[in-house]
Amino acid sequence: MSSVSSNRAPIGVIGTGYVGLVTAAGFAALGSDVYCVDIDAEKIAGLRAGRVPIWEPGLAELIAEHRERLHFSTDLGAALEHARLLFVAVGTPPTYSGDADLSAVHAVVGAMPPSDRHALVMKSTVPVGTGESIERVFAEQGKGFRYVSCPEFLKEGSAVKDFLEPDRVVIGDSGDWAGDAVEALYAPLDAPIVRTDVKSAEMVKLASNAFLATKISFINEIANVCEETGADVVEVARGMGLDDRIGPKFLQAGIGFGGSCFPKDVTALKQLAGNSGYHFQLLNAVIEVNELQKRRVIAKLQKHLGSLVGKEIALLGLAFKPNTDDMREASSLVLSSRLQGAGARVRVYDPVAEEEARKLIRGVVFAPAATEAVAGADAIVLVTEWPEFRELDLAAAVQSMRGTLLVDGRNFIDPEAARAAGFVYEAIGRPSPHGAR
Ligand code: UGA
Repeated sequence: MSSVSSNRAPIGVIGTGYVGLVTAAGFAALGSDVYCVDIDAEKIAGLRAGRVPIWEPGLAELIAEHRERLHFSTDLGAALEHARLLFVAVGTPPTYSGDADLSAVHAVVGAMPPSDRHALVMKSTVPVGTGESIERVFAEQGKGFRYVSCPEFLKEGSAVKDFLEPDRVVIGDSGDWAGDAVEALYAPLDAPIVRTDVKSAEMVKLASNAFLATKISFINEIANVCEETGADVVEVARGMGLDDRIGPKFLQAGIGFGGSCFPKDVTALKQLAGNSGYHFQLLNAVIEVNELQKRRVIAKLQKHLGSLVGKEIALLGLAFKPNTDDMREASSLVLSSRLQGAGARVRVYDPVAEEEARKLIRGVVFAPAATEAVAGADAIVLVTEWPEFRELDLAAAVQSMRGTLLVDGRNFIDPEAARAAGFVYEAIGRPSPHGAR
């Protein structure tokens, strides 16, 4: 990143969720005045008082450091007055039909006044064709507003770093001042910039997430075949990943992907294709493999414990991945319900996500520490690979339990160490000492 300029264009950011706040803080760090707008008055009041509503490493610090350039309001007035580019970072959750819910996006579009000096810059993930229909609305209303698609590729838990060191910045526009202005904003990051048309930019986002999800379901199926054959998926992924064309990332087998993006975007792309008559066969399999993968843990428990009725099962980690409190589509949601459905009693521990989890998980006991969750349990399932679980005193843990089974849903614990401590250790796609099958 080159040096911060004090002379940079001010911007507006509409929506102060994790994408909006990270974008706002990131551009403030690069020297822009940023006018943040949200309809949630409580959230805006909190942000004005210095309270950051989400748990994202480095974000609170970045916001505090650049406070003087960050302005928060429930009103669009200041953003429209000071900024030409208005970044849109509102939610686009899935609807019942699997299509994206664009009501928040449409509300933003509807709130824009006639203007030929402003542009909307879409950060939210939207179906291909959304930009075209918004441009049509602007044209019909004679608003003169410009439109740019600039999808976000931030990962929760490393969003600040991803903003400041992006692999690429994708800018889709119709070839006027707005695309150039967005490119100028990102220029100090020295990232490859992909200038393209709006529809292609929209598709880059959906296709990237669908491809990454496919990579995960693929390695999970390889892991399942490894369990049948006695091969070790960790070794297989290592061998595959050294091929430049494959790459080592997103080849960690586990109990499925979750989060607010992959499940939603894979379904949205499948629906988008289906709506125009194309049957996206591969994505059906990606989704189904992911659903089954969450449930395979139950069979692993039953293999050792028999019936789960009355068994005490401890889930370590609840968030959909470490370094976030996000529980959306977390594998723990399916797992905790399935276990209770099979008659087990479930105790859970997560270092950060407990508050969010309490809103979604019923019938379980929340433990204040990993050691308390495992004491007296028949089995442990490691659901989220929080770093602190590597520090767990395995010998003390197994001694405190009623049983000795550890199912490592993320291949996170050292198998040798777990077995040396006295655990019966089961992983995902790794040979089991009790017979490969
Ligand atoms: C994902 C993408 O990685 C971002 O590029 C994108 O911007 C974002 O969605 C979005 O569309 O907003 P995120 O959902 O934060 O980011 O999480 P990831 O780190 O990608 O992990 C997703 C899930 O895949 C997690 O449940 C994780 O445990 C799982 N995963 C990931 C695996 O099971 N195996 C892997 O090898 C990698």
